[in-house]
Amino acid sequence: MTADRFENDERQRLLRQYAEIATLAGGLAHEIKNPLSTMSMLLELLAEDLDGAEARRERRMLTKVQTIQKECRHLEDILNAFLKFARVGELTLTPSDLNFVVTEFIDFFAAEAKEHRVEISPHLGSDLPRVALDVSLMRQVLLNLALNAQQAMPNGGLLELQTFARDGQVHLAVIDSGQGMDEKTRSHLFEVFFSTKPNGNGLGLPTVRKIVDAHRGSITCESELGRGTRFTISLPPAA
Ligand SMILES: Nc1ncnc2c1ncn2[C@@H]1O[C@H](COP(=O)(O)OP(=O)(O)O)[C@@H](O)[C@H]1O
Ligand SMILES: [Mg+2]
Repeated sequence: MTADRFENDERQRLLRQYAEIATLAGGLAHEIKNPLSTMSMLLELLAEDLDGAEARRERRMLTKVQTIQKECRHLEDILNAFLKFARVGELTLTPSDLNFVVTEFIDFFAAEAKEHRVEISPHLGSDLPRVALDVSLMRQVLLNLALNAQQAMPNGGLLELQTFARDGQVHLAVIDSGQGMDEKTRSHLFEVFFSTKPNGNGLGLPTVRKIVDAHRGSITCESELGRGTRFTISLPPAA
């Protein structure tokens, strides 16, 4: 057997193994979701029963029930984020206007941003070539980056969304004026389950990276502690 052939067989074997593990993990996440939602529902009823209780013992019980409810919600968030991560596979690509997708996203995100005192400032390039996009996955990318930006600006700030064409590629930059990150954090950004947040799931950026890769694009991050962060996504123009 030639070395090339061996490498190819090995690659195929690893790909099959990966697909099997991904299917198993997805199935497992689904299996956990159902009993978890039953538990959430029953906790909700229990909390209603205990609501307004006078006795101290019952009030203590209510506090405990609410803590379990919070943990259940956290688990549900992780499972949903994981399923989204695992589902990035087949794309439906349509030659699209990136500016339109960004503008639509800004409309969608405006109320959330306002509530967190985040000002959105769009700078959209005027002569962008069309890009082959899976629009709903690209919305997911924008949402994950915008939420991270917002969470990095707990006292509000500026969120810039730029699009521009350069060096034969179409670029999307998401820039915040938030707390930034140190070099160590930056080096782990795209690792699954890496998070510096007490309630983070560490799946936002790995999902972004996976979606960008699936579009044959690339993503980079520049950041300065105390000043802010810039993510730049570069995509090939539609053929
Ligand atoms: N805009 C940003 N500013 C500062 N840190 C960021 C930013 N985006 C991501 N990070 C860092 O990267 C980590 C991973 O992000 P992510 O994968 O979205 O997971 P999560 O948001 O659940 O923590 C975050 O916990 C944070 O430390
Ligand atoms: Mg995130």
